[in-house]
Amino acid sequence: MFNNKVLTKNEIIWNAIIFVAVIFTAIEAPFSFIFQTKIQKWQLVSDLIISGLFVGDLIFRFQKKREQNMKFTSKGHRLKWMTLMSVDLIASIPYDILSYALGFHAFTYFRLFRLVRVVRLFEIVSHLAFVPKAIKFTAILTVFSVAVHWISLCWIMIAPIDQAQVIDRTSHYITAMYWTVTTLTTIGYGDITPTTNQGRLFTMVIMILGVGVYGFVIGTVTKMVQDGERYKQQNREKMHDLASFMKHYNVPERLQQNVFSYYNHLVTKRLTENDNKIINELPQALQSELSVYMNMKLIRNLPFFKNLTSSCLKEVAGALEQKYYGPGQTIINIGETGSEMYIIGHGSVEVILSDGNVVATLHEGQIFGESALLHDTKRNANVRALGYCELYRLDKEQFDEITTRHDELIDRISSLTSRRSGDRSERHSSSVKRIQQKL
Ligand code: CMP
Repeated sequence: MFNNKVLTKNEIIWNAIIFVAVIFTAIEAPFSFIFQTKIQKWQLVSDLIISGLFVGDLIFRFQKKREQNMKFTSKGHRLKWMTLMSVDLIASIPYDILSYALGFHAFTYFRLFRLVRVVRLFEIVSHLAFVPKAIKFTAILTVFSVAVHWISLCWIMIAPIDQAQVIDRTSHYITAMYWTVTTLTTIGYGDITPTTNQGRLFTMVIMILGVGVYGFVIGTVTKMVQDGERYKQQNREKMHDLASFMKHYNVPERLQQNVFSYYNHLVTKRLTENDNKIINELPQALQSELSVYMNMKLIRNLPFFKNLTSSCLKEVAGALEQKYYGPGQTIINIGETGSEMYIIGHGSVEVILSDGNVVATLHEGQIFGESALLHDTKRNANVRALGYCELYRLDKEQFDEITTRHDELIDRISSLTSRRSGDRSERHSSSVKRIQQKL
């Protein structure tokens, strides 16, 4: 039932506008028809706006198909597209305006043609799987309310209420709605009962429908709540498994705490094994494309990578590898040969000089370990994780390859390393001064 095409943000907004227009028509058109209301000025304006929206939608979709050179996967697909376009074309006609202009005031059936616009609802609903849950829930509730509205109007037409009970149009409509809701939800107080055969038949149909609708609503709401709970449930199970594991192997208290706090960190960042599982199940080509996309998203917004060419960013994104470090863990040892540099995705690290002084604390989005790679020298400081850190590692081999192709990256790293080297010398001379003063 659901369309598997992921919508862009603009497409979601546009569909939401069309959805509101369709719902408005679905409420207003049958109401005017049943109560035989005369065309009002505001109806002409709304008809003009909604027709305009549908014409815009039609042109937009036609244009999109033309850009794809009107390619169809099968004959059935072409037929479906042509039918939908024809329906959309019929739905774009401003029936209220036409009927007003042609003087069809009495010919109310003509105005009912506007209901063709409701067909558009099916397509919109087929995309609901990809929108946020709150929007999905509101859309389902709205469609359900429109169904209640229609049944109420049918009830008014098929089973007229005893005129003595009806004071005005609003009370008439509210009474019908009250009957619909109590019957559909299987509550049925029995205070409003049909007095004609058509009325009884209609009531039976709605009662049977009510059982289905009741089940559907309960089922949908339960599923939505369950979906939200799934992530929490997975984590609870994982924690439970971890606890049993620790108990079984008698793991020391301190280590247990570290393991739990690491896992809590993953949970708060919503980094689950599931993410990896989903990615690992994809074909290799898609896996790399997805990971390049995710890394690209990360580095594109970092100040260090601002205004670098997109080919350079793409190459860096394609070479990054995700790594995790726990609190206090040493990532770089002073004096060692450098074989990688890092970008901080989450968390903070501290840079410690040979005298034990912290020269800098680096945070999310900053890079380190670049100096040894650029100058082919030994590591000039220790780097230690302050809390849980999610780092992106760039291998020396890849670093060399990328920098030979992109001078702009070398320039940026060079200016960073010289600034940092200045900071180190400053720190060094001030600590020498302090020692001399003490002496
Ligand atoms: P590298 O020498 O490869 O390994 C240690 C890293 O610590 C070094 O690269 C820099 O990335 C980082 N570093 C050294 N000095 C500073 C500083 N003053 N400020 C920030 N980072 C530094």
